[in-house]
Amino acid sequence: MEDSNRSSNLSIHEVSDPARRIVLRGGLAGALASLAGCATSGGPGLALRGLGGGGLGFAGLQPSTDDRLLVAPGYTATPFLAWGEPVGVAGAPMPAFRDDAGNSAAEQALQLGMHHDGMHYFPLEPGSSSASRRGLLVMNHEYVDDGLLHTTGLADWSAEKVAKSQAAHGISVVEVELNGNRWQAVRPSPLARRITATTPFAVGGPAAGHPLMRTAADPTGTRVLGTFANCAAGMTPWGTYLSGEENFQDYFTTADTPTRDEQRWGLRKTGWYGWAAHDPRFDTVRHPNEPHRFGWVVEVDPYDPTSTPVKRTALGRAVHEGAWVAVTKDGRAVVYSGEDAVFEYIYRFVSRDRIRPGGFKANRELLDHGTLYVARFDANGRGRWLPLRHGEGPLTAANGFDDQAEVLIKARQASDLLGATKMDRPEWLAIDPQSRWVHCTLTNNTDRGPGARADVDAANPRANNTMGQIIRWREDGDFDGDGFEWNHLVLAGDPANTRPEARGNTVGDAFGSPDTIAFGPRGLLWIGSDVSTSVLNQGENARFGNNQLLACDTATRTTRRFLVGPVHCEVTGVCFTPDGRTMFVNIQHPGEMPSGRSSPTAPRRWSNWPDFKPTGRPRSATVVVRKDDGGVIGS
Ligand code: FEO
Ligand code: CA
Ligand code: CA
Repeated sequence: MEDSNRSSNLSIHEVSDPARRIVLRGGLAGALASLAGCATSGGPGLALRGLGGGGLGFAGLQPSTDDRLLVAPGYTATPFLAWGEPVGVAGAPMPAFRDDAGNSAAEQALQLGMHHDGMHYFPLEPGSSSASRRGLLVMNHEYVDDGLLHTTGLADWSAEKVAKSQAAHGISVVEVELNGNRWQAVRPSPLARRITATTPFAVGGPAAGHPLMRTAADPTGTRVLGTFANCAAGMTPWGTYLSGEENFQDYFTTADTPTRDEQRWGLRKTGWYGWAAHDPRFDTVRHPNEPHRFGWVVEVDPYDPTSTPVKRTALGRAVHEGAWVAVTKDGRAVVYSGEDAVFEYIYRFVSRDRIRPGGFKANRELLDHGTLYVARFDANGRGRWLPLRHGEGPLTAANGFDDQAEVLIKARQASDLLGATKMDRPEWLAIDPQSRWVHCTLTNNTDRGPGARADVDAANPRANNTMGQIIRWREDGDFDGDGFEWNHLVLAGDPANTRPEARGNTVGDAFGSPDTIAFGPRGLLWIGSDVSTSVLNQGENARFGNNQLLACDTATRTTRRFLVGPVHCEVTGVCFTPDGRTMFVNIQHPGEMPSGRSSPTAPRRWSNWPDFKPTGRPRSATVVVRKDDGGVIGS
C-alpha cells in the first residue's frame, strides 16, 4: 500500500466551516447524521435489473476462520480456474500445474497467472440464448508471491525466475461453457490468451509519443512491453475490458535517493520484486522514463486474441485500482477510477465523442479524447469535479507542466495543486446506471488523524481509520455534471469495538476493509472484504473471521454474509452471467504470510486451499457459485 502524498493541498476540514469541523472531530455523530435519508437509492446494474425481487433472499453465514470456502445454504461454490492451469491457447502446449511450482517461465506464460483479481464475463454471443452458457472469463493476475511461485523461492534469483514472475502477472482470457450445472474451460480455444508483463501494448491518448514516455528500447514512446499490478477491472458498453495498473512502483528500483517525482509516486531504491536484477528496464537510473509507462488504465478486446491492447493515457496516470464506465444520455463514455493509496484521489474521465455501435473497432479511439477530472468532496455534502486541463489554473509550465501529456503523466502532482480531496484508499467503484449513484470503497487509512499528514474530513471522517467506508455520489444532471451530491452508504466496523471510530454503522453482518464492490441480480450490492493479513482476526478485526463476500440491500443498508474464504485470502473480482444465475468470484492469495511473502519450505503454513494435496500449495482460484435450485444469485 503506497503512501507518498506529502502535498500541502488542503484537506476538506481546512476549508469547511468550523462548526462542522468540530462535529466531525467529535466522532461519528456528523457522519452518522449525514447518512439519514441517504440510504434509499442503489440498484442493480442495467443488465441484471429485473432479475427477481429485491432484498436479501439467502440465510447469512457466521464468521469463520477455517481453511475452507463457505457459501450460504442452498448454494454451491466450486473452485474452477486456479493459478497454473493452462488457459488453453490453441496451437500451443497446455502444461499442467506442477505441485512443487516447478513450471518454467515459458509454461507459466501459457497458464493462468497468480493472484487473481478483477474479472468479467463476456458472452460469446451477447443477447443470444447461449449468452449465459458460453463466454470468455477475463481476469487480472495482480501480483505474485515469489515464495510460492518458485520451488526455491527467492534463492538463486535468476533471469528465469524474473521471467516466470513476469509471466505470472497480467491478464488471462479463458473460454468457458456451462455443461449441465457445471462450468468448464474450453481447451484449446482460439480465443484463449495470456497477456503478461512482456506483451506489446500500444499507447493511446495525449501522452503517446511524449518525450517522458520514450525509452532506449522504444524511442517513439508508443509501444510498451507489458502490464502488471492489474487490480480491478471494468467492462465497457462496446465489449472491451478495462484493467487498472495499480502498484507499479513496487517493480522498479531507483538511485539511493529517488528523484522528487519518483518519491511522489512511491518509487524507492529497493523494489519489492527484484526484476531490475535481471531486466534493466526496471532500473530507473538507467531507464528513468520506464515508470511513466505504467500506472495507466489498459483496454483489451477479449474477442480478438490478435488485438494489441492499449494504454489509455487520457484517463490519467495513477495507482489505478480499476476503471468503471457509465454512459451519458447522449451516449458519451464516463470512466470513473480511483487510486488505492493513502491520501490519493478519485478521478472521472468524460469522453469527447459518443459511443458508436460496432464494438471495439468502432470505438478504437473513444478513450483517447476527452477531459479528466479529479474529485473534491466538500463538507456540505456537495462536491466538484476539477478539470486537469493544461494551461488552466495552476497547471502551467511554471508549475512543471509543459503540456497536457505532462499533466496526465503527473496526474497526482496536478491533483495536489488543484486541491483535490485526499481519500482513504479508493478501491472499487460500482455505478447504478438507473439511480446514477456512483459508489466507491475507501478501504481504510490508519495514517489519517489529528497531527497526521491529513486530519479527518467530511468524506473521510475517522481518525486511524482501520475499517473503511463506502462513499457515493450523484452527479448534477447527467454523468458529466460539474458538481455532485455525496454521502456515505456505510461506515464499516464492528459495533463491539471499544474505540468509537472502529464501530461503524453497519446494519446486519459487520465487516471491515471493503474493497471489491459490484451490483448484481436483485439490485444487491456485493461487497468483498480485504482485511490485511497482518491484522486479520486480530484487534479491532478480531470478530470478522476470514475475508468474505457480503450482499447489501442498499434500500435498508442491511449487509448479509454470503461467502467466507479460506485462511488469509482476499475475496475479489465478483461478476455474473447476464441471467444472474452464475456468480464468478476470485479467491486471492489464500495462505499468504503476514509478511506478504511465503516461505518455499513451508508453503502450506497457513492454507492448502483449494487442492489440499499433502505436497501441494495454496493457489488463487476463481470460484463458481450457483444456487442449487438454479435460481438467481442472492435469492
Ligand atoms: Fe489491488 Fe487496491 O487492491
Ligand atoms: Ca483491491
Ligand atoms: Ca485492498
